[in-house]
Amino acid sequence: MLDKLEEIKKSALISLASVQNEADLEAWRVKHLGRNSPLMQIFSGLSALSLQERPAVGHKANLVKVNLEGVLKEKREAIKVAVLAHSLEEEQLDVTLPGRGIRVGRLHPSTQQLRRVIDIFAEMGFQVYTSREVETDEENFQALNFPPHHPAREMQDTLYIDAGDRGENPLLLRTHTSPGQIHSMREASSKNPENPPPIRIVLPGMCFRSEQITARSEVQFNQVEGLAVGENITFADLKGTLSDFVRRMFGQNVRTRFRASYFPFTEPSAEMDAECFVCGGTGCQVCKQSGWLEILGCGMVHPVVLENGGYDPRRYTGYAFGMGPERQLMLRYKIDDIRYFWGNDVRFLEQF
Ligand code: DAH
Repeated sequence: MLDKLEEIKKSALISLASVQNEADLEAWRVKHLGRNSPLMQIFSGLSALSLQERPAVGHKANLVKVNLEGVLKEKREAIKVAVLAHSLEEEQLDVTLPGRGIRVGRLHPSTQQLRRVIDIFAEMGFQVYTSREVETDEENFQALNFPPHHPAREMQDTLYIDAGDRGENPLLLRTHTSPGQIHSMREASSKNPENPPPIRIVLPGMCFRSEQITARSEVQFNQVEGLAVGENITFADLKGTLSDFVRRMFGQNVRTRFRASYFPFTEPSAEMDAECFVCGGTGCQVCKQSGWLEILGCGMVHPVVLENGGYDPRRYTGYAFGMGPERQLMLRYKIDDIRYFWGNDVRFLEQF
């Protein structure tokens, strides 16, 4: 009987050595420790043994059972560890695979250009001043020396807002950023009417005109206005500042020229051209063979405008300018249709 138990143990241990997975292990358990296993049969047959034999066989059977249960537990753990190791091996992450890229947005080309312009003027000591898009006729035109029915209004077809009868002062969408001149001067002078402080500002923002939309004109576009007001400001300051701006924006060797022009709110007025930075001044399609590109309008602030802003024109002078960032981008990148800017076509926008 004792030999038989030894046999049972041996054969169980031998067959356990070849068990590799949990299913086989369970089958092994049923076969060697289950209710009908030879070992369990020895337990159930104990009562049939003689009193002399019974304790020794019982003791040995118990030892075998404890032993087999012990190795079963060990094997179960070993299989678990092996399964885990195997799956780690099999399903290994390939960290060299390129990841799925996250598409990052970007700034609109107009915003980028606005920021370039602002950065340059910021370095020269100008502050950014922003003002409203909905204006009154008074601020958009009258205070800037465009009286009602003035012919210069013809150049700025206006989108009006239906706000009831406001007489000669209807609400409108600003047609240019120039009303910001009035706002900034009034804001500064109202704080100290006797001694209004000097002003150096650039004023970026969207403008609106009732235009037929074509490749060359849109109903909305950005402008950057500039205004410098103080004592002893001269046309030389205007020329120096704006020439420096053009060189910083378009290249240190780009030449500039000023042509006489007319704006109601400046006197004298000028338009500033930069030597064509596409062809270098020799003549091309972008500059229409002239060698020059019109970059901005400018002039010395009209005395009436200074007065309307709360600045005494006998004591203060100033200069102002206005430019279009979309126009600058069109020249720089040879963009032939202004409608791309608000067309929301990513194929266009992604190029900037
Ligand atoms: N407001 C003008 C326009 O939209 C541009 C302009 C010209 C602004 C001359 C100025 C200036 O400040 O001095 O056509």
